[in-house]
Amino acid sequence: MLNLDPRLYVDPAVFLQERNSIFARSWQLLGPVSQVAERGEYVSADIAGIKIFAIRGRDGELRAFRNVCRHRGAQLLEEGTGRCATVRCPYHQWVFADDGRLINAPWFGEDKDFNMADWPLEPIHVATWRGLLFVAIDPQEDLVSQIGDLVTELGDEPIETYTALKTDRVIFDANWKIYTDNFVEGYHIPGTHPSFFAAIDFEQFKTTAHRGFVRMTAPPRDGLFYRGKWLWMWPNWTLSLFDGGMNTSRINPISTDRTEQIYHFYFADTSDAARPAQEKTIAGNLAVVREDYEVCVSTHRNYASGSYSAGPLSPRHEQGVHYFQQRVKESLGA
Ligand code: FES
Ligand SMILES: [Fe+2]
Repeated sequence: MLNLDPRLYVDPAVFLQERNSIFARSWQLLGPVSQVAERGEYVSADIAGIKIFAIRGRDGELRAFRNVCRHRGAQLLEEGTGRCATVRCPYHQWVFADDGRLINAPWFGEDKDFNMADWPLEPIHVATWRGLLFVAIDPQEDLVSQIGDLVTELGDEPIETYTALKTDRVIFDANWKIYTDNFVEGYHIPGTHPSFFAAIDFEQFKTTAHRGFVRMTAPPRDGLFYRGKWLWMWPNWTLSLFDGGMNTSRINPISTDRTEQIYHFYFADTSDAARPAQEKTIAGNLAVVREDYEVCVSTHRNYASGSYSAGPLSPRHEQGVHYFQQRVKESLGA
């Protein structure tokens, strides 16, 4: 079992291939569906460079579109969440309804061949699962097939009853696969996360690959905010259980050597009294992740400099890395 060829992490041509064959072909987590609970509420996001948004229409329907104006291609909505009655392009002010129809092209002029009905926003796919919102540009399978055995894995966890209380976005200078390799193994915990290491029974750390996801478990010692179960789902989202809640994240490549991770933190208890402990959990979680970014950035530099050739993967700890990398290879036809 060998690590992936380092060239696949640093070649811009591979990034473009991944955009088309992985990111545009799979369901992408946009976070809690509560972000689009009300009519007119939207989430606007980037998927490996492709701009999209999902919006709850006036008729209550959830729809998603490319975030691209049909006139000359400007981006319609800034990334993030918001609420609007119609979508107005900032460039020349074309206006689209929340169902994608073009409803106004001001000052356009007379053109007998121009028909507004011919220029609606380009729709993409949208789906929800247990309180989570997903979109897909050109999915090769339905959402439930993609998440595979996660359906049973989370069968007893009341994830849809949690409330998303906070979101965070972090950016780091490494390829998205370096961070994913890191997420799907606990092998690095003793060296990279000394305080996290002290808070779990590392000898019992287990990593197993399943249909659609990788599960990592370790018995937590007293006082750790993690419940001792961390999940990563193909191709790029994570879910970690906390005491009384969880987080999700999406690992999104901005370019070959730059990645963003969009977090949501969800909790069962929404009272003010619970807030300080939850803030501590969030800060503790992000502190662990920052240690990961550091090691990912320096690893990326070594891949980029050509000083590394693929080394061996641990059978005890790196089955998840192998599973992820095999799926990448299959998707790239490598
Ligand atoms: S590009 Fe949107 S109105 Fe011109
Ligand atoms: Fe880590």
